[in-house]
Amino acid sequence: MDQSSYQDIYNASLESKAAFWKEQAEQLEWFRQPSSILTNTAKNRYEWFEDGELNTSYLALDHHVKNGRGDQVALIYDSPVTGTKKIYTYKKLLDQVARFAGGLRSLGISKGDTVVIYMPMIPEAAIAMLACARLGAIHSVVFGGFAPHELAIRIDDAKPKAIITASCGIEVDKIIPYKPYVDQALKESAHQPDYKIIHERPEQPERLDYKQELGFYHVMSQGEAIPAEPLLSTDPLYILYTSGTTGMPKGIVRDNGGHATALKFSMKTVYNARPGDVYWAASDVGWVVGHSYIIYAPLIQGCTTVLFEGKPIKTPDAGTFWRIIEEYKVNHLFTAPTAFRAIKKEDFQGEFFKRHDISSLKTLFLAGERCDPTTYQWASDHLNIPVVDHWWQTETGWPIVANPIGIEQFPVKAGSATLPVPGYEVRILDEGGHEVDSGKEGFIAVKLPLPPGCMKTLWNDDKRFETSYLSTFDGYYATGDGGYKDEDGYVYIMGRIDDVINVSGHRLSTGEMEEIVATHEHVAECAVIGISDELKGEVPLGIFVAKNDSEFDHQQLEQELIALVRRQVGAVACFKKLVEVKRLPKTRSGKILRKTMRQIINAQPYNMPSTIDDPLILEEITNTFKEHNLITQLEKEEV
Ligand code: COA
Ligand code: AMP
Repeated sequence: MDQSSYQDIYNASLESKAAFWKEQAEQLEWFRQPSSILTNTAKNRYEWFEDGELNTSYLALDHHVKNGRGDQVALIYDSPVTGTKKIYTYKKLLDQVARFAGGLRSLGISKGDTVVIYMPMIPEAAIAMLACARLGAIHSVVFGGFAPHELAIRIDDAKPKAIITASCGIEVDKIIPYKPYVDQALKESAHQPDYKIIHERPEQPERLDYKQELGFYHVMSQGEAIPAEPLLSTDPLYILYTSGTTGMPKGIVRDNGGHATALKFSMKTVYNARPGDVYWAASDVGWVVGHSYIIYAPLIQGCTTVLFEGKPIKTPDAGTFWRIIEEYKVNHLFTAPTAFRAIKKEDFQGEFFKRHDISSLKTLFLAGERCDPTTYQWASDHLNIPVVDHWWQTETGWPIVANPIGIEQFPVKAGSATLPVPGYEVRILDEGGHEVDSGKEGFIAVKLPLPPGCMKTLWNDDKRFETSYLSTFDGYYATGDGGYKDEDGYVYIMGRIDDVINVSGHRLSTGEMEEIVATHEHVAECAVIGISDELKGEVPLGIFVAKNDSEFDHQQLEQELIALVRRQVGAVACFKKLVEVKRLPKTRSGKILRKTMRQIINAQPYNMPSTIDDPLILEEITNTFKEHNLITQLEKEEV
């Protein structure tokens, strides 16, 4: 593969799928090599490496210790918010994971059980994930920025036998009380786990109820270090809930064998990261980037991974990233464009760069949201290394479109994530499922079968998996993003075509926020749309019609709606902007014209929808947006 061009590898990945992925799977240490590579189990349904046996925790840890990497640093924990730094060698990480897995087993947790992990960015989160993987218990990590209500929804769906948490998280200088949030979630959820396992942090000591609540290190001390459980390639490794278009998130299910194969392949081809390299994904374990590129991929590849508990700014300043790169000689950095927008805002002249030696850094990878050309240029000018914008989703678990620098580096075209990664047959389709000409925008779809590593199904909801992803275009996976390809095959991602937005690279559902706003007694109807934001990329805007059958303070109503969404979804929703209108524009059948409102706010031209109920509403609503400075502000931002 090393001598081949991108085109050869890409063609091989599509033309001889089984042979291609068999070769990639052979890069891993299986307990039993798969003899079946790709199985078509039903219409549009496939499994990878069905009869293979392996264990992801074994690949991430034992394999390296066995092969002489025991003393290499596996994980660096750097926490400017607590002033802590810790180093875990592969040997030490394996020991703690194996003992924590033993502790979980002594509580009766075994293969196929589910475990919810609600933790900040601390090594214990990585240990918990890898210990579950070792046992074959299916972990479901919930991002710490989600409110107890969101946690409760996930607990009721995943029905965990245990929930693992910490006494608190720290957001810059604010203590986030995780344990009380868990208690609150459990009051709301019907399902009750048998155990709560809590890592007590010195920043917030907790009084535990030792019948049901166990200390993290107590559990570790109770267990024998256990070997990794042989699992089928198709056994689930984890469930990761992601925002869909409704209040019920989608529980993406990932397998073991396909996932490990794809991640290993991506580390070479997309990231060009070799064993021993220092790889830093500045994200959070609660997101797919954290699962794939803080925990599993760097460890499977034998790299050193950095677990950073801080922010790109304010912890303590816009030089934190460069300090970490210098201190640990980071070779590959992966983050969301919003992190660079934040740094650029604080340090436009790049003064902080000058104070650090960041010569170890080879490449910057950006994903999670659209990368605006200004930020791309700024990062590229200051770092003076390749900046790779690449596109993927929780559903796929690894990149779909990227500049495959591990194979061949292509010239960058502003606004494009470059070319489809080997394994992904990316097509741009019209509504009828026909491929459109280059340069023309359409729905981005991927021809089935998807390569290894992509979602298996939705937890407890195989039907929703089919309807959400497989039934829109027969024979394709519908990505939910719109975009186009140019004449050179470069793919341009233009944004979601559904009710999903990306706020600071965090995926959120406007549909869910709408459902919440609509529950307020004084709201007659509402829409929530994503609008551009200079720092966060997008933020939600609530547009509502108040009931006129009672007296109430309209300003207070807005504050109540903001508080309601914050309470139900969490601070991470950044739901802070609202506008009250007299009526919402709708089609004659009653569908709210969200896209048209988005176009008005973004000062984009729009066609008057032929099915509009009353065209005058658009004029009325444009005036209201103007009165609230929404349009003016955006025009300024675009200049
Ligand atoms: N636990 C608890 N609360 C959290 C949280 C977590 N893990 N993550 C975020 N929040 C809270 C924040 O404290 C903030 O609360 P506030 O409204 O009380 O201030 C709110 O959620 C919004 O957070 P965020 O959107 O992150 O805004 P910010 O102003 O705190 O930080 C950035 C802005 C750009 C610095 C930050 O978003 C960032 O570092 N992004 C990096 C990109 C990233 O990690 N993307 C993930 C996908 S790759
Ligand atoms: P998540 O599932 O949280 O990773 O979010 C996936 C969504 O983020 C995608 O469907 C896109 O809408 C968006 N996204 C991710 N990467 C990019 C990118 N490089 N460019 C544009 N949008 C992106």
